[in-house]
Amino acid sequence: MKFVSANGASIPALGFGTFRMPGPDAERMVSHVLANGYRHIDTAQIYGNEADVGEGIRRSGVARGDLFLTTKVWVENYRRDAFLASIDESLKKLKTDHVDLLLLHWPNETVPLAEQIGALNEVAKAGKVRHIGVSNFNTDLMRKAVRFSSLPIVTNQVEYHPYIDQTPVLRTARELNMSVTAYYAMADGKVFKDAVLQELAAKHGKSIAQIVLRWIAQQDVIVLSKTVSEARAEENAAIFDFALTTEEMAAIHALVKADGRIVSPEGLAPVWDKAA
Ligand SMILES: NC(=O)c1ccc[n+]([C@@H]2O[C@H](COP(=O)([O-])OP(=O)(O)OC[C@H]3O[C@@H](n4cnc5c(N)ncnc54)[C@H](OP(=O)(O)O)[C@@H]3O)[C@@H](O)[C@H]2O)c1
Repeated sequence: MKFVSANGASIPALGFGTFRMPGPDAERMVSHVLANGYRHIDTAQIYGNEADVGEGIRRSGVARGDLFLTTKVWVENYRRDAFLASIDESLKKLKTDHVDLLLLHWPNETVPLAEQIGALNEVAKAGKVRHIGVSNFNTDLMRKAVRFSSLPIVTNQVEYHPYIDQTPVLRTARELNMSVTAYYAMADGKVFKDAVLQELAAKHGKSIAQIVLRWIAQQDVIVLSKTVSEARAEENAAIFDFALTTEEMAAIHALVKADGRIVSPEGLAPVWDKAA
C-alpha cells in the first residue's frame, strides 16, 4: 500500500468509502476489504452507518492500530458543545477510542470557523482524534482553517475525477503542506461511458475504474472508492502495479469540462474556486 504524507500524517493512498451504503452492506464490505488488504476506511456521521462500520472493523480481525479510520462531523454539530458530544457518540458507534482523521464535512457559516477549528483541535488534544482536516473547502477557507488551527490540517477532501479541474485546491494544498483526498472518482458513473478512458483501459489491460483511480493516485492525491461488490473492491485495489505515462495522464486531464462539478448542494457548498 502506498502512503501519502502530509503535515505529519501518513495516510494510505487508497481508502474505502461508505457513502450511500446501508448498514448491512457497510458491515459486510468493511469487514471484507480490511481482511483483503485495504487499510483506510472513510465514513461520516451523516452516512448513518458508523455503528455498522465499527462492527465491520471488529469482525475483520484487523488490529485497530493497523488501519486508518476517518469520520466527518456533520454541519449541525459545529457548535463546541454539540461537536464534543457528537465525537463521543461517533467513537462509541465506531467501537474505538480514537479516529485517525476527523473532518469538518462541509462549510457552515452559521458557526464561526474559529469555533469549528477550535473544537477540532480540542478533540485532537484530548487524544480522540490523531489528525484533523476539512472537506469541501475552497482555497480561501483552506487558508483560514490553517490560520485558525494550532494543530496541522492534513487534508481537504473534495470531489475529483477527470471532468473537474481542481488545480486551485491542489496548488493551495501543496503550498500549505496539506494533502487532497478525492471523492466521486467515478463521476457518478460517467467515466464508464468515456471513449478515451475505454481506450486507455484496453491498452493497459485494466478496467476504466482502475485507470481513473490510478490517475488520481499518481498525482499523490489520496483516492476513495466505494462499492458494495467484493469483486469490484478487489479490482479497485489493483492500481499500484502499473503506471500511466505523462502523455496518458495529460490525455485524462484533457477530459475536463467547464461544468464538470457534480456535487454542489445548495446551502452547504461554498463559492467554488474557478480554475484558470
Ligand atoms: N466529503 C464528502 O462530501 C463526500 C461526498 C461524496 C463521497 N465521499 C466519500 O467518498 C467515497 C467515494 O465516493 P462515492 O461513494 O461517490 O463512490 P465512487 O467511488 O465514485 O463510486 C461510485 C459508484 O461506482 C460504482 N463502482 C465502484 N467501483 C466500480 C467498478 N470497479 N466498476 C464499476 N462500477 C464501480 C459503485 O457502484 P456499486 O457499489 O454498485 O459497485 C459506486 O456506487 C464515498 O463513499 C465517501 O466515503 C465524500
